[in-house]
This record gives sequence, C-alpha cells and structure tokens, in this order.
Amino acid sequence: MTNQFQQDNLIGQSNALLEVLEHISQVAPLSKPVLIIGERGTGKELIAERLHYLSKRWDQSFIKLNCSSLSENLLESELFGHDAGAFTGANKKHEGRFERADGGTLFLDELANTSGLIQEKLLRVIEYGEFERVGGSKTVQTDVRLICAANEDLPSLAEAGEFRPDLLDRLAFDVITLPPLRHRAEDIMPLAEYFAVGMARQLKLELFEGFSSAASRQLMEYHWPGNIRELKNVVERSVYRNADTNAAIEQIIIDPFASPYRPTKRVKTKERQQTPSSDAKPSVADCNTVVSANNGPQTEASLSFPIDFKTHCEQGEVRILKQALEAGQFNQKKTAELLGLSYHQLRGILKKYNLLDK
Ligand SMILES: Nc1ncnc2c1ncn2[C@@H]1O[C@H](COP(=O)(O)OP(=O)(O)O)[C@@H](O)[C@H]1O
Ligand SMILES: [Mg+2]
Repeated sequence: MTNQFQQDNLIGQSNALLEVLEHISQVAPLSKPVLIIGERGTGKELIAERLHYLSKRWDQSFIKLNCSSLSENLLESELFGHDAGAFTGANKKHEGRFERADGGTLFLDELANTSGLIQEKLLRVIEYGEFERVGGSKTVQTDVRLICAANEDLPSLAEAGEFRPDLLDRLAFDVITLPPLRHRAEDIMPLAEYFAVGMARQLKLELFEGFSSAASRQLMEYHWPGNIRELKNVVERSVYRNADTNAAIEQIIIDPFASPYRPTKRVKTKERQQTPSSDAKPSVADCNTVVSANNGPQTEASLSFPIDFKTHCEQGEVRILKQALEAGQFNQKKTAELLGLSYHQLRGILKKYNLLDK
C-alpha cells in the first residue's frame, strides 16, 4: 500500500504504522484485553479508541482513565466506585469506571506504576468479571473489554518485582507496540501538514502556505523524543508565529525557550569532572562550588563554532540527566518517566556516564 493512509483522524503512511493498523483490525473484534506499549506521544490513546470503534462494542461506552495521575485511594474509588459512607466525604454511592464501561471498553492509560492493591483488584475483575465497590459488600458483575497502555517495558518491571506477572499475563492477551516517530520518517511530513492545516483553520487563515525546503528538512532531521504530540506542538507554534507573513514557513521553532537572552543555568562543577572533554583534573576546591553553565556546554542559541560536536552532545546529555535526577528526587523510576525512557534505558545511559548511584 503506497497511498497515504488516512482514516478518521489517524494519519500516516509508513509500513510500521500500516502494520499496526492491520494488527488492530485483527484483534479489535475479540473481547480480550489488549496492551498498547509505546513512548509518550506515539498515539496510544488514538489506537485504543480505534480498537473500540472497530469492535462489536462500538456503540457502547468507551471510558478512559489515566492511572498515573491519581493516588491509590482515589484510583481505587475511580475504578471500582464506592458506596455511600465508604470514607469521610463519600456522601453518595459513586459508580466506578468498571461499572460505567459495562458492555463497552475501558481504557486504562499509564498503568505501569499502579500499586499492588490496584493490581490485585484488576486481576480479579479480569478473571471473574466481578468486584466490590470501596466500602461495599455487594459483588458487582461487569462485562468490560480492557485496553491498557504503558510507556515502559512491563516484562522488565515484572522481573524487577514491580508489576504482577500474573496480571501482565492476563492483560497481554495481545500486545500492540507503537513505533516511535523517528522510526517512521515517512509519516513526519503528512502529520506536519495535517496539524498545520488544522492550526491555520483555527487561526482563520485563508490557507496554509506550506513549509520551505529548509523547514521540511528541519522537521525530517529532528529526532522527536516527544513523538507525535511534540510534532503537533512544534508545527502549531510555527504556523502561529508565521501567521502574518503570507509565505511558506521558513523556520521551525522546535524549542520555544531558544533565545539569545536565555538565562544561563547554574550547574555543579562536578559535571565538568565527568565530561569526557575535561582533561585537567579538577582541584579539591572545585568540588561543590557552583559555576555558570558557560563553563559547560553552550546553549544552541549561543554556539560559536568550531565546537567538538560529540563532546558537546555528551555534555548536554549529562546536564539533562542530572537535572532530571534532581527533579525526580533521585528516584530512577521517576527520573526515567520524566525523560520518557524505560527504567532500563535510563540505567544504561547513567552507567555510560558513570552516574549510577550518585
Ligand atoms: N497517527 C496519528 N495521526 C494524527 N494524530 C495523531 C496520531 N497519533 C497521535 N496523534 C496525536 O498526537 C497526540 C498524542 O497522542 P496520544 O494518543 O495522546 O499519545 P500517547 O497516549 O501515546 O501519549 C494527540 O493529540 C493525538 O491526537
Ligand atoms: Mg496517553
């Protein structure tokens, strides 16, 4: 199939995507659980919707819930509901997602880090189609097709004892793994045009003037760590910033923070110690003092060439890793999430830069 594939709002013509779509058509009619794995922004939610609308349950409810944004108690009550008086503030009976999705499909997004209690209750509802509301004693029957999504490697989590292997077995009747955008380059321009036209319409522009060849090259060469969500953002921003020119988009603004006036970051001197380029041994006095980032890699906006490209990139990576570790309170699982990496990918990279357990 070489024609651009476009159905509903799913854009793409790469073989990798077409294979996924074929897989979806096969598994959609079954009422079995499906697991969708993919980096952030790869379209897991759209794929889940398509699974539902191609299934026999298409005219029933499609209910979704993001499991990572709720505390354990709240998640339990959102999933399974609660009876009046179950806890302080529970004045009325509350129907959970499992009850509301009865006869239809329930999409549980970002399932990887749910607690043992939630995993246990999920296992039971999958096995027997029944559960009790929080604080309730009556057993409720439900007929729900479960679709779950994660951006982590669940088998590794199961091996590490962080995810129930028996639940994983049940959820993974079939697994759809979405290819990241950088592995389906043919989809970049069709998606970019689709988002650009949508934004032009939103801005009430007469027409979208297209991308210059330099802009197209920029789009094609970027590695899109945030995948389609990031591409959408970047394209919409470029269209909006270009709105009053009546000309093709010349430049893609990938980083909205880029500016010659961007304040420099403060980084610890230790960072220099670990960068492969620093030949000079740091003195004891150097440690724990704080210097401006000008001593480390330059920001893209202030590059003065020539530079050593490889070293520059490596320094950038170390800087990002350290900031992410700090933001994730040095919890590697959390840090991996902040970077859109799997736990094992993060460990690999930390090892490469000798940053493990520091
Ligand atoms: N193939 C596609 N065609 C058009 N838009 C897409 C496609 N895949 C993803 N998107 C859009 O990209 C954004 C991110 O998709 P989403 O399903 O939320 O990703 P994820 O759940 O994997 O993080 C959404 O705005 C979605 O509509
Ligand atoms: Mg999502």
